[in-house]
Amino acid sequence: MTQPRYFALVPAAGVGARMGGAVPKQYGQIAGKSLLQHVMETFAATPEIEHCYVVVSPEDSFIATLPAIPRTTILLCGGATRQVSVTNGLGAMATEVKPDDWVLVHDAARPGLTVELIVRLITAVAADPVGGLLALPVADTLKRSSEQGRALETVPRERLWAAQTPQMFRHAALLDALLKADAVTDEASAFEALGLQPRLVEGSPRNFKVTLPEDMLLAERYLKGSA
Ligand code: CTP
Ligand code: MG
Repeated sequence: MTQPRYFALVPAAGVGARMGGAVPKQYGQIAGKSLLQHVMETFAATPEIEHCYVVVSPEDSFIATLPAIPRTTILLCGGATRQVSVTNGLGAMATEVKPDDWVLVHDAARPGLTVELIVRLITAVAADPVGGLLALPVADTLKRSSEQGRALETVPRERLWAAQTPQMFRHAALLDALLKADAVTDEASAFEALGLQPRLVEGSPRNFKVTLPEDMLLAERYLKGSA
């Protein structure tokens, strides 16, 4: 039996509505490069990763301006939601990737990912029967609000985690789970819906998702090593 290999799949077909910039946020510049280029270079710098696939929209006019990155393939098969973009990417990878190979799905909007975090996830999940994801234990006191924006109750934060990416699952199992799932915002949810329990592996604050305009400055500080 051959050892399973590790592949990266980066959904980068969003429009960045909450960022509201002139270009989709994955093409926003921090520390001299686009968010997407930072992510592609991090996977290319990780020897454990066999190959990286990036999913962009078929109408994407920015991807052609990025430099070619070794062991990286661009797939023009993005869809209307992240779930569809990932599902389409998994379908397009299927010619190269075996059913039991691992796929690490990572948001293009998380440029703070490091080689160390990728290796941490792979090391923790490689022997897992289900798969797993990077996540951070929640530190703040959590409130549930009324419709009027008043605090109704405090939600106990014990055992609460904020999900990050990469999320690492075997190719065939992931495609199957995403095809069966109703609308989900991450891969782990699709497995949870099947009654499976993905492993939580501690991530890092620097791996946060760039969403709003003010996030660009914080991402830049992390990437320049000053945060
Ligand atoms: N994504 C995707 N295809 C979509 C929507 C999102 O590949 N149809 C990707 C984004 O490019 C991003 C990741 O999924 O890398 C996480 O999504 P999110 O942070 O929500 O990005 P956007 O959808 O672009 O932003 P917004 O929700 O503010 O529009
Ligand atoms: Mg979105």
